[in-house]
Amino acid sequence: MSDRQESESQALIEAGRKLFAGPVSFLMGVAKLEQLPQAFPAEVAFGGRSNVGKSSLINAIAGRHDLARASNTPGRTRELNYFIADEGRLALVDMPGYGYAKAEKAAVSRWQRLIRSYLKGRPGLRRVFILIDARHGLKPPDRDTMDLLDESAVSYQAILTKTDKCSQAELARVRTGVEEEMRKRPAAHPEIIVTSSKTGAGIAELRAELAKLAG
Ligand code: GTP
Ligand code: MG
Repeated sequence: MSDRQESESQALIEAGRKLFAGPVSFLMGVAKLEQLPQAFPAEVAFGGRSNVGKSSLINAIAGRHDLARASNTPGRTRELNYFIADEGRLALVDMPGYGYAKAEKAAVSRWQRLIRSYLKGRPGLRRVFILIDARHGLKPPDRDTMDLLDESAVSYQAILTKTDKCSQAELARVRTGVEEEMRKRPAAHPEIIVTSSKTGAGIAELRAELAKLAG
């Protein structure tokens, strides 16, 4: 990195820190499209398979432990949960996990429909973060979701989660695989963010990315 790039990236890290220095609050849970709030100046969503760590990552970004409900039981998040930061200018949306089939069938298909319609046509949605467990890599439901985002021309970016649980070698292997696949996809952001909500790894970089999107 050149000196200029280095200082630009430091400035973004600082902007990301400031963005979340103020309070982040829960606004509402949306179970039906009709309940969606008015568009925000900037909105980003966190999607991914059940149990991949979406709610935990939102807590880590906000610097709180108990903002979004995280749990060992897959299928914990059942609505589009809106969290508001930056004095109402930025919405973070915690999505129900996809690919979870153990809940009641009718409920699952209701969430899946809600997720699909939301992802296809939400004004102000700047980016969808697709969370991927660093131990497992991409799975068929991730690809289905990315297909939908490519077709709808909605920008998305991969985030590897739970990197504290895997070895450096395993992480490097999964990372390369995900990067290769992202390069072929039209609406995908080429850079991957590598995180652990447990150790805080990658959280400053993710906040910096959010500052770019909100700016
Ligand atoms: P659903 O709402 O069910 O789709 O799950 P989710 O994607 O929101 O996952 P959640 O944040 O509830 O986390 C699932 C489990 O993984 C919880 O037991 C978390 O404590 C754990 N977890 C999440 N992130 C990390 C991480 O970075 N490291 C480790 N070791 N565990 C994590
Ligand atoms: Mg959740």
